[in-house]
Amino acid sequence: MNNDKSISRRGFLKTAAAIGAALTVSPALDKVKAAETALTGARNGSTRKKDGVEYRTLGTGRAAMEVSALGFGCMGMNYNRSQSPDRRECIRIIHEAVDRGVTLFDTAIIYGPLRNELLAGEALAPYKGCVNLTTKFGHEVIDGKGTGRQDSSRATVRRYCEESLKRLRLDTIPLFYQHRYDRNTPIEDVAETISGLIREGKVQRWGLCEVSADTIRRAHAVCPLTAIQSEYHLMHRDVETNGVLDTCRELGIGFVPYSPLNRGFLGGCINEYTVFDTANDNRHTLPRFQPDAIRANTRIVAVLQAFGRTRGMTSSQVALGWLLHKVPWIVPIPGTTKESHLVENLHTQTFNIPDADWLALENDVAAIPVTGDRYNAEQQRQVGY
Ligand SMILES: NC(=O)c1ccc[n+]([C@@H]2O[C@H](COP(=O)([O-])OP(=O)(O)OC[C@H]3O[C@@H](n4cnc5c(N)ncnc54)[C@H](OP(=O)(O)O)[C@@H]3O)[C@@H](O)[C@H]2O)c1
Repeated sequence: MNNDKSISRRGFLKTAAAIGAALTVSPALDKVKAAETALTGARNGSTRKKDGVEYRTLGTGRAAMEVSALGFGCMGMNYNRSQSPDRRECIRIIHEAVDRGVTLFDTAIIYGPLRNELLAGEALAPYKGCVNLTTKFGHEVIDGKGTGRQDSSRATVRRYCEESLKRLRLDTIPLFYQHRYDRNTPIEDVAETISGLIREGKVQRWGLCEVSADTIRRAHAVCPLTAIQSEYHLMHRDVETNGVLDTCRELGIGFVPYSPLNRGFLGGCINEYTVFDTANDNRHTLPRFQPDAIRANTRIVAVLQAFGRTRGMTSSQVALGWLLHKVPWIVPIPGTTKESHLVENLHTQTFNIPDADWLALENDVAAIPVTGDRYNAEQQRQVGY
């Protein structure tokens, strides 16, 4: 990459963040008002290009948020993906993503737990107000450990918000997702809690993860949603048929596909002999990552590789390009611990593939049955409400 350009982008953002801090009078409220004024007319799916990077708008009107077309999932840097580079290397990679125009970074309280928020907060502190660091509440965490229960009650969400603000080193959370439905707290109550936090300037926008179309409607009616974050990639396309994508389109809500490479599988570096760190990787618990399933599903990766071979694309770029092409209000958040993979993934935006080719790819993949469920029974119980 062009070093001068990267240094100047990084320097510019840091200076902008510092000036923003110096001018702050009542920081949170001012920023919310500025964002609302600037984006009131914005529409889900508006796009623009700047310095070769595509930006997309998630959500509509006051809920709108403009971010880079590809975001960055921070989770795997120190949680659930086996390899964890040291802290300094993680921060260097996150800064490299900023240099390359990424403005959406995703974390959650449950990642670590807490450790991933601390890492992302430290890494992005120099860019406060210039990039969007989104986080998620919902999974109950007590004394730094997940209990396996959900708690989106008013008092807990408010406490989690205060604690996340400190770990993330922010005055306001750009987008706060509910990270799994809580059967004991009606979604309307959660929406009311978030409305209050938005009025107070502690949160700017909100979203939901892995919920039904009906839940989206009920939540959106109380407090407009910016984005739904659910699993979506060529091996898991439920949101196309369960009404979620249709509802997002109708209501003007953005969509953020998580695990867009199917937890690395579509990158082509995983085979039946891959050993996952049982202490820091949930893939060994997933039916789709058992050796027999991996062996069977490798046929799917082969289709992506064949598609990419004649177009100069890797299988990761094919997987991400297919998602980006679907609709302009989608922003995938691939994660990586490697600069080379970051560069490769961001390069996806430079390919221009005809609609008919994407459709042919989709049909070729759909012709191969996927072996193994994405979640085990316990994990599945937490989705879809
Ligand atoms: N809302 C939710 O419930 C939920 C659930 C899961 C995840 N998420 C979010 O989604 C983000 C991404 O999800 P994820 O980490 O599960 O899955 P992912 O992005 O589909 O895959 C990440 C894996 O892919 C590998 N990878 C990345 N680029 C690659 C490339 N070009 N070639 C080969 N391998 C590549 C990474 O390994 P290397 O480190 O070797 O590159 C990493 O192990 C997370 O960070 C998190 O923010 C949300």
